[in-house]
Amino acid sequence: MKAITTTFIILFALGFNSCYYDNEAELYGSGAACSDTVSSYNGRLKGIIDNLCNDCHSPGGDSPTLTDFSSVSSNRDAIICRVVDSPTCGNVMPKNRVIDPCDKQAFELWQQNGFRE
Ligand code: HEC
Repeated sequence: MKAITTTFIILFALGFNSCYYDNEAELYGSGAACSDTVSSYNGRLKGIIDNLCNDCHSPGGDSPTLTDFSSVSSNRDAIICRVVDSPTCGNVMPKNRVIDPCDKQAFELWQQNGFRE
């Protein structure tokens, strides 16, 4: 009887353990523990925008151009709106792409921390 009880306890513990393999950002939404908590433009955002946005939003491509701090900064309200708050203000950005929850959170953090360069 004792052995059976022990087996159940072990199985139970393993069952709970499996939760740790889940993606935190997916489990808890954008409040998740993503590694970056500051998200300045140069520290984090530029890499995301170059990767996800700038094959469209470069000179000669779709407006607005988002290739440097001044262009990103002057479009910041529209960017937050399209990436974080959309679809309330137009098509969701990045267009035709899936954004990682931590990358999306980086835009929110950038706003919360005062749109730092
Ligand atoms: C596949 C091409 C493509 C990608 C990738 C893309 N966009 Fe766009 N974006 C567009 C097009 C086309 C428009 C204009 C049509 C519209 O408003 O939906 C636009 C519009 C916008 C606008 C609105 C501008 C305004 O004046 O209101 C913003 C802001 C924007 N994009 C930001 C971004 C950001 C930030 C990313 C990356 C996270 C991104 N876009 C990725 C094609 C793209």
